[in-house]
Amino acid sequence: MARSAPAFVAVFLLVSALLSIGAAQLQPPSGPPTDPSDAAALHAVFRQWSLESEVAGKDPCQNPVWNESLARNASVHCDCPSGVGVCRITHLNVTGYKNITKIPLELFNLTELVSLDLSNNNLNGSIPPGVSNLSKLEIWHFNNNNLSGSFPHELSLLRNLKSLWMFDNYIEGLVPEFIQNLTKLTDLRIYGTKIQGPIPRNLSILTNLEILMLGDLEGNPSYFDVIGEWSNLTMLSLRKCRLTGQLPSTPRNLPKLNYLDLTSNNLSGSIIQLLPYKNSSFIYVGENNFSERLPPEIVRPSLSLDVSYNHFVNGSLSNIPADQKWPINYIGTSVDASGIVDSRSLAILNCLRMKECNNSSLTNPGTSFAINCGGKQIDYPDLMQTVFSEDSTDLGGAGFHISTTSNWVVSRVDSDPFNKSSIVNISDNILATNMQELYKTARTSTSSLRYYMVGLANGKYVVQLFFAEIVITEGLGRRLFDIDIQGHNIKKDFDITNEAGGFGKATNITQDVTVYNSILEIHLYWSGRGTCCIPYKGAYGPLVSAIAVTRSVDPKVSPPEAPRSNSGRQDEKRRGVIAGIAALCIAAALISSSVVYLWWKWVSIVKRPVA
Ligand SMILES: *[C@@H]1O[C@H](CO)[C@@H](O)[C@H](O)[C@H]1NC(C)=O
Ligand SMILES: *[C@@H]1O[C@H](CO)[C@@H](O)[C@H](O)[C@H]1NC(C)=O
Ligand SMILES: *[C@@H]1O[C@H](CO)[C@@H](O)[C@H](O)[C@H]1NC(C)=O
Ligand SMILES: *[C@@H]1O[C@H](CO)[C@@H](O)[C@H](O)[C@H]1NC(C)=O
Ligand SMILES: *[C@@H]1O[C@H](CO)[C@@H](O)[C@H](O)[C@H]1NC(C)=O
Ligand SMILES: *[C@@H]1O[C@H](CO)[C@@H](O)[C@H](O)[C@H]1NC(C)=O
Ligand SMILES: *[C@@H]1O[C@H](CO)[C@@H](O)[C@H](O)[C@H]1NC(C)=O
Ligand SMILES: *[C@@H]1O[C@H](CO)[C@@H](O)[C@H](O)[C@H]1NC(C)=O
Ligand SMILES: *[C@@H]1O[C@H](CO)[C@@H](O)[C@H](O)[C@H]1NC(C)=O
Ligand SMILES: *[C@@H]1O[C@H](CO)[C@@H](O)[C@H](O)[C@H]1NC(C)=O
Repeated sequence: MARSAPAFVAVFLLVSALLSIGAAQLQPPSGPPTDPSDAAALHAVFRQWSLESEVAGKDPCQNPVWNESLARNASVHCDCPSGVGVCRITHLNVTGYKNITKIPLELFNLTELVSLDLSNNNLNGSIPPGVSNLSKLEIWHFNNNNLSGSFPHELSLLRNLKSLWMFDNYIEGLVPEFIQNLTKLTDLRIYGTKIQGPIPRNLSILTNLEILMLGDLEGNPSYFDVIGEWSNLTMLSLRKCRLTGQLPSTPRNLPKLNYLDLTSNNLSGSIIQLLPYKNSSFIYVGENNFSERLPPEIVRPSLSLDVSYNHFVNGSLSNIPADQKWPINYIGTSVDASGIVDSRSLAILNCLRMKECNNSSLTNPGTSFAINCGGKQIDYPDLMQTVFSEDSTDLGGAGFHISTTSNWVVSRVDSDPFNKSSIVNISDNILATNMQELYKTARTSTSSLRYYMVGLANGKYVVQLFFAEIVITEGLGRRLFDIDIQGHNIKKDFDITNEAGGFGKATNITQDVTVYNSILEIHLYWSGRGTCCIPYKGAYGPLVSAIAVTRSVDPKVSPPEAPRSNSGRQDEKRRGVIAGIAALCIAAALISSSVVYLWWKWVSIVKRPVA
């Protein structure tokens, strides 16, 4: 024991020496200290956000910042110009902290900030006016929070802003006129808020714009002339902005445009006006009032094209080879598809467009339907009476699929240039269900997903929708979407994870509906809310695992014929009762009179005197 002591001491000394060398190497290279005012402000801010332990007593520009995960981030970057002797904090990125709820006023002492990213926290209340102090800001992202109050007027003083993201908040008021003064803007994203239109016309002078995404604007209508000659614009998204009127007769020159989304506005005039943008990769103009002939030059395999629900758009798709699936959605238009779909599909398309399905071949005797959205056919004979049919056609950036055997249709449109994946799957087990496989695949869309059942007998049905979140498996992402059935909203900001109590867990919705014109429509759609990019870009919008539709069994709840007024039905019942009573009376009279007759006859026979 005693003999080994010197050796032990030697090893100990060697290890400590090595450790101290290692520690010395881990020290950051010494440089100028952080400006005291910046350091004090940052410490005050981090203390209020309960992040202080990480920087307590340290110089913020001298110490490495930490990165906890891709989605959660707290980082500081400094500018340390040589010869000045101090570093200034220029970049602050604190994102993905659900317990950060306030903007501390000390933040506005960081007057050298160039980039401030506070997205995907839980900030609430209104934006403090002190933000006008941050006049050097070029990037300000505060999307995916709960901020409210009016559109911050102080923004007008941030003349260096290039990138402003404020989507998914509760901010209200009009889109302010002063936005035109922010002439350096290259990337502006305002949607999923309570901000109202109109879009100021002088937005057109923001010639540096590269990405413009405005959406979900209630209020007064806007006009397409807000668009300027934006030579660097690559992405233009004006979904649900109440854009009205026609596209300008002199088309805007947007030479770099790759993505155009004008979905769900009130634009009219000839669809030919879109021709100047035909070299884009995405054109989404569904749910408008465009008319006339779809220019054949615009229909190309490399363009995701959505013209759906423009009733008066016509023309033909004769340039699409019969065996090809090009990414185009023309459901709800007058486009002649006879060259590329079979006659039964044509009849179904016509039924959807005209909302009348008189063609007797469409009458579907089935009383129940089920679809395994995004997956293969599945049968649960012990649990469900209906087989879930296969729905695994990849619909790309825009498209639809008609199941000719069972008369259902899925129609899909995207709203995101980054990811076109329409079908997702997971191999992990799903919790809270005994129908595992049903939830392991799902259909998604970043904009709109519609399912139709065609040729149903009119009457009452029960719709079941099956959900499990299998994409946003990190707690920091949030998927929100809306659900309409038969044109009535049944869920707003539906959150699968929240309803199910966790990701990878099943949850269902059951809804009674009435079918009047032999069509049942289920519409799942995005309204600008939720996170955009966790765990990857384009991970947002509706997701559905399966759908089942069953005829209501109770005959009292489910009249087989088209509904009529209650009073009519009661009249009929009363008439029936009266008729019944009358019939009984007649029967009774007949019986009693025959009894009387027989008795009389019998008496007369019996009593006849024997001759
Ligand atoms: C906020 O969350 C972070 C990370 O999850 C944690 O370190 C911190 O203690 C939390 N703060 C409060 C006040 O709960
Ligand atoms: C802030 O950090 C997040 C997560 O690392 C990153 O995705 C984001 O781009 C950063 N923001 C800026 C403005 O660089
Ligand atoms: C901002 O810094 C100044 C000194 O430059 C200090 O007097 C003031 O208290 C600070 N304000 C806040 C809100 O921290
Ligand atoms: C704005 O910055 C100045 C220092 O430049 C500071 O004195 C003032 O307190 C700041 N205002 C707010 C509201 O933080
Ligand atoms: C467009 O982008 C190029 C290169 O990034 C730049 O030099 C030019 O100034 C931009 N033009 C406009 C009008 O913003
Ligand atoms: C849609 O535009 C037409 C004119 O093009 C107008 O008459 C109509 O009122 C608009 N509808 C809505 C809902 O704004
Ligand atoms: C398309 O509709 C226009 C009217 O909007 C009509 O003049 C034209 O003949 C139609 N074209 C076809 C091919 O049906
Ligand atoms: C189809 O039926 C509807 C009523 O459901 C009727 O209004 C329409 O005229 C019929 N159309 C044809 C082509 O028979
Ligand atoms: C799951 O998705 C991947 C690609 O996203 C695909 O390669 C795989 O075949 C899918 N698995 C199933 C069972 O659908
Ligand atoms: C697109 O989605 C798939 C999952 O369907 C994902 O694996 C991939 O990373 C996404 N691509 C991008 C560019 O985000």
